Amino acid sequence: MFTLRITILTIIIPLNYEHCFCRCAHAEYEINKQCCPMCSPGNCVLWHCTDEISTTCLPCPPLTFTDEPNGLMKCFPCSVCNANRGLRLNKACTQSSDTVCGPLERFYCIEKKEISCIFAVQHSECSPGQYIKQSGTGSTDTVCADCSGDTYSNGSFSSCLPHTKCDAMGLIETNPGTESSDSECGNPPTASTAIAISVIVTLLIIITGSVFTIIRIQKKKTSTGNISDRINVEPDSLEEQAIRI
Ligand SMILES: *[C@@H]1O[C@H](CO)[C@@H](O)[C@H](O)[C@H]1NC(C)=O
Repeated sequence: MFTLRITILTIIIPLNYEHCFCRCAHAEYEINKQCCPMCSPGNCVLWHCTDEISTTCLPCPPLTFTDEPNGLMKCFPCSVCNANRGLRLNKACTQSSDTVCGPLERFYCIEKKEISCIFAVQHSECSPGQYIKQSGTGSTDTVCADCSGDTYSNGSFSSCLPHTKCDAMGLIETNPGTESSDSECGNPPTASTAIAISVIVTLLIIITGSVFTIIRIQKKKTSTGNISDRINVEPDSLEEQAIRI
């Protein structure tokens, strides 16, 4: 009997102690030293209860809400998803729930309040020479990593690509690849261009050769002519005569 009394006391006393702190029941609120029934979510109080009448509740006006039973005279204003804070609307506000915002496309949330995002920033971009190791999500940033070896990425690839091997394609490398760009290949001289080049070279050799020969002959001619002029005029006049005949 004695032990039972003790048990009852230890259980009941703490419970009573809690109850003494708030005089009103769980779904009531205290106003003017009186307990009034709360209004349900989506509503707020128009008139507090009196001895005769229960609380008069009013649905929240547009763009306001209450998401818990309450004794508020005013509903809370709905949050706005501001694009300047990197936000877009995920779920519109109702009378009993606040707006739910999410990060804009290519943004990720860095500050949350319950299920709604309240601040988001843009995903980082990978630099040339890096690849996207992990794409950004609504809650994580992009993860970049450097290209290594004989590979490249312009910063928007999901992996580094191997440089094109020009000689394996029967081409010649006109520009070596870097970590951010592929190698550039060009056509090696084809048979027809080779022929064209050799023809041009041959012609050039022939022309230069001829020009030199002509100049040399001309030089020789003028020098022998001068000598014959001084020594003997006859051969010329003889030639002229022969032409006339
Ligand atoms: C990288 O290359 C891809 C396809 O080749 C192109 O669409 C993209 O605009 C390039 N990005 C940059 C940052 O140059």
